[in-house]
Amino acid sequence: MGRDYRRKPSSRQENAPVGPSAVPNRSTWATRSMTKPVGRKPAIMNENRPTLYRDPADMTEHRDLVDALIHRHSTPATCLTEPAPDDDTLQRILQAAESAPDHGGLHPWRFLVIDGPALDRLGEVFVEAMRRKDPEASDELLDRERLRAQRAPMIIAAIAREEAGHAKIPEVEQLLSAGIAAHHVLLAARASGFGAVWLTGLRVYDEHVMAALGLAEDERLIGLINIGTVKEGAPTKGKRRRQATIDRWAG
Ligand SMILES: Cc1cc2nc3c(=O)[nH]c(=O)nc-3n(C[C@H](O)[C@H](O)[C@H](O)COP(=O)(O)O)c2cc1C
Repeated sequence: MGRDYRRKPSSRQENAPVGPSAVPNRSTWATRSMTKPVGRKPAIMNENRPTLYRDPADMTEHRDLVDALIHRHSTPATCLTEPAPDDDTLQRILQAAESAPDHGGLHPWRFLVIDGPALDRLGEVFVEAMRRKDPEASDELLDRERLRAQRAPMIIAAIAREEAGHAKIPEVEQLLSAGIAAHHVLLAARASGFGAVWLTGLRVYDEHVMAALGLAEDERLIGLINIGTVKEGAPTKGKRRRQATIDRWAG
């Protein structure tokens, strides 16, 4: 990539967890997603969860995929609550990412699920990142950082790894694949009846945050997908969309 905003060599590993699972290599990625069989249940699971609120614009209400895509919108993290997807649902959501277009089959992405007490720890990681950036940061600012990890009951960290100097596949294509995989997760979460929003903020580009999550030197965090049950009263529409136009090249 021409612009490398994410890493200064060597600083990352100081705080990275150690052990065999800390820095995955490509072969463990490939097998990791295969360790659990894909569930055969229908798309909407968490059958026993209390349905707090059904978003009228929910993707599950739309007749076909195009209709669902046209009506797709995010749910603000502050409008997400328990329960998060259960493991069967989560397995399907992550499986949806596996069909992202992937030139050369390099699989330049992986996901980390953060939920339960790990969200509290992530909040402390955000706080520490802010302290390192701004030792004078006010308690109010630090509290706000902490809360960013505690709004939704689940965060899926989307991680990209582009193979530099690949003979055939430019890095930008690999990054695009990772982005599409992340978007499949976002869409699959919604299609499973949950609200979701893809967030970054400066914290995803922060060395301390990436190290704490165990990212390898050649990986980058591309998003924190917040997922949860949509709270009553949450927005049911996205922003006003532009009217698409058909622009034809006349040759
Ligand atoms: C890579 C990426 C990073 C984003 N980061 C943020 C963010 O940090 N904060 C934010 O408010 N929205 C962020 N967004 C936008 C939201 O995910 C969302 O798309 C936006 O609020 C518009 O809502 P909609 O998805 O309903 O159109 C990001 C989107 C993408 C694709």
